[in-house]
Amino acid sequence: MAQNWTPSSWRQKPIKQVPAYPDQQALRDAEGRLSTYPPLVFAGEARRLKKHLANVAEGNAFLLQGGDCAESFAEHGADTIRDFFRAFLQMAVVLTYGAQLPVVKVGRIAGQFAKPRSSDNETQGDVELPSYRGDIINGIEFTPDARIPNPERQIMAYRQSAATLNLLRAFAMGGYANLENVHQWMLGFVKDSPQAERYRKLADRISETMEFMRAIGINADNQPSLRETDFFTSHEALLLGYEEALTRVDSTSGDWYATSGHMIWIGDRTRQVDHAHVEYCRGIKNPIGLKCGPSLQADDLLNLIDVLNPANEAGRLTLICRFGYDKVADHLPKLIRAVEREGRKVVWSCDPMHGNTITLNNYKTRPFERVLSEVESFFQIHRAEGSHPGGVHIEMTGNDVTECTGGARALSAENLQDRYHTHCDPRLNADQALELAFLLAERMKDGRDEKRMIAANG
Ligand code: PEP
Ligand code: CO
Repeated sequence: MAQNWTPSSWRQKPIKQVPAYPDQQALRDAEGRLSTYPPLVFAGEARRLKKHLANVAEGNAFLLQGGDCAESFAEHGADTIRDFFRAFLQMAVVLTYGAQLPVVKVGRIAGQFAKPRSSDNETQGDVELPSYRGDIINGIEFTPDARIPNPERQIMAYRQSAATLNLLRAFAMGGYANLENVHQWMLGFVKDSPQAERYRKLADRISETMEFMRAIGINADNQPSLRETDFFTSHEALLLGYEEALTRVDSTSGDWYATSGHMIWIGDRTRQVDHAHVEYCRGIKNPIGLKCGPSLQADDLLNLIDVLNPANEAGRLTLICRFGYDKVADHLPKLIRAVEREGRKVVWSCDPMHGNTITLNNYKTRPFERVLSEVESFFQIHRAEGSHPGGVHIEMTGNDVTECTGGARALSAENLQDRYHTHCDPRLNADQALELAFLLAERMKDGRDEKRMIAANG
């Protein structure tokens, strides 16, 4: 076990982004109750994800991580979850086919409720109130009451996560993810989108391959991998009292695991090496993500890696790089060189969302061409450095929202008001997400062809 670590040792460290709960006794009560509830995920599942991620770190798989910026209590319908899962599966199929690599599927879902904020307060007109910090902490309505942190929200977030996870497990294992359904995953509004034709063609090719396999005796009845998929959950481990309450010893190994989700990550605002969030994460055995923004220096990154992955275990640590389309070329190569020079095993993932947020017509948005541009640079840089561009981390939904401008339907600043539903950052809609998947597939195919050429020419 990590030295001098306990699930509560983070409480002795400096900490950022803490909500001001007015009633500390009520907070302790809620955390106490949570600590008696069943785990949401199991240690064995987290270990399996870590193995899959080790495969990514070694260049033999690709990580697709995505979902809401912030889940909300108000939007907890089966249709929303199904539409997300369907859009995500479509992306995964496009990527698997393009890259001819296994795709590790990790949702930002079933626990993604707490949000770091750049300011403690929000001002509207001449009224100033505490900022909204995610439904697990306070309410989004701009009223003094809603903005008071309420510990009972942690219990609601736990219960919503359990219900969401239950449905996701059913979708992943109960037949919905069967590859024979590849045509049915077309969403209502994607069906008549510019991506539809491309997707239909790809689905036709997959169906043909399935026909061939069926003819030689391989089918969804005798081959579980054709009818089921591994789907994992993840969220930012921001609200450490909640995480601590769900930290449990795995009876088979004696190790501590976060059981609030399979993978958790440390945000860009809370990654100080001697602070609470790093302290908490160093002691649990789950796969961990670390957001890497423009202020992260190579030496600091190496120090963080020492603390978070001292055994240099492949799959333990995913570096989620989020620099911005115009900054990635200045920052990423230095980090890659330092990490590769020191022989550290990491998954390199690209978050092309959080460095590309701008405001248009009073809406926070992300121009889709900047999202694509950061992804393109990420691939180019890894090719130049000889490292593996291991994955992407995106904010997306299966719904027809208008939150990011651009894409094949050319959403404009004027369109943003039409269906702007996010509780926090702007997400790609299903159409834009699929468009991104096609681009990724092409880049991965280029990389694969290049590797084959090098291998063939000795
Ligand atoms: C997020 O992923 O929603 C987020 C707040 O990211 P970051 O920590 O990279 O700013
Ligand atoms: Co976000």
